[in-house]
Amino acid sequence: MNVLGIESSCDETACAVVKDGSQILSNVVSSQADLQSLYGGVVPELACRRHVDVLIPIIKQALGEAKLTLKEIDLIAVTHTPGLVGALMIGLNAAKALSLSTGIPFIGVNHVEAHLFAGLMNQDVTFPCLGLVISGGHTALIKMSAVGKYELIGKTQDDAIGEAFDKAAKILGHLYPGGPIIERLAKDGDPSRFSFRAGRVKGRPYDFSFSGLKTAVLYAAKGPGAKFGVAENLTPKEQADLAAAFQEAALSDVVDKSRKAAESEGISTLILGGGVACNQRLRALFHERAPHLKTVWPEKALTLDNAAMIAGLGYHQYQTRGEGDSLDLEAIPAMRF
Ligand code: KG4
Ligand code: ZN
Repeated sequence: MNVLGIESSCDETACAVVKDGSQILSNVVSSQADLQSLYGGVVPELACRRHVDVLIPIIKQALGEAKLTLKEIDLIAVTHTPGLVGALMIGLNAAKALSLSTGIPFIGVNHVEAHLFAGLMNQDVTFPCLGLVISGGHTALIKMSAVGKYELIGKTQDDAIGEAFDKAAKILGHLYPGGPIIERLAKDGDPSRFSFRAGRVKGRPYDFSFSGLKTAVLYAAKGPGAKFGVAENLTPKEQADLAAAFQEAALSDVVDKSRKAAESEGISTLILGGGVACNQRLRALFHERAPHLKTVWPEKALTLDNAAMIAGLGYHQYQTRGEGDSLDLEAIPAMRF
């Protein structure tokens, strides 16, 4: 079964063709980093306009690279939640229009769930396991009893972890997306120079809070009470130490909460997904602080936003349910589990 996946929930327009849920025939991603970096973050209106411009060429490219025509597609899978509502609607309406005009069924997919499914596409994982989605839009710890059976056990109360990386990088004077820049700067930094810590949420041991950590970086860089913005005149050494201390605090927090959740649930496997899971220091920290936890890392092309994970999960849902969605399926911005 050939599934065309479409993803447009945030600032990447992506299309992919996946055969039988795991054989990736094409995986095309058009990033808006060039556009969004001018503004230091994702501007929804600009994201939507770019999706409109590039979606159809990218669908054609994904089909071309898979050496298939639309006639050979059996199912269209599309992200319909969570994300920027306007951005979601562009991919969803494209999928509906394609479905209506060709008779190919379409199915709506949850983007956060798809990040976890990416870890299952080419690896054997035994259930139950934990899933950790750490991206620019989401920070969620999820108990997975099977594909489709989830319990949300932790989420962020304010900024997503990737958003905190992006804002910390901005304070240090760097462009969006900031995660890879912080990782690079931190390699030469001394994390012990600043004692930063991510937030704890009273009564919710597995919830996250990164907004105080971001403010701590701001005050350390610009002075107590400073307004959010670029800290001028930092030396390279100060930049590196701030990046290292921030990164260590943010990543240690997700490692420690994942380990504690796994211990309390009696679970030994953790699947990771989302852009922050590309960070190499995170892997080292799991080794150091949670050596007994088996961690599953999808390859980089499946870790960052992509449509192969959407097609993979769509295939699985269609197999289970036996039918697609109807044309009144809505775009839902908030994360629901
Ligand atoms: O999964 P993704 O492509 O999109 C969302 O669903 O948000 O994740 C993008 C996020 C950005 O915030 C980016 O700064 C962060 O992932 N990121 C990283 C790294 N690479 C990307 N954060 C930390 N370290 C990295 N190496
Ligand atoms: Zn994502």
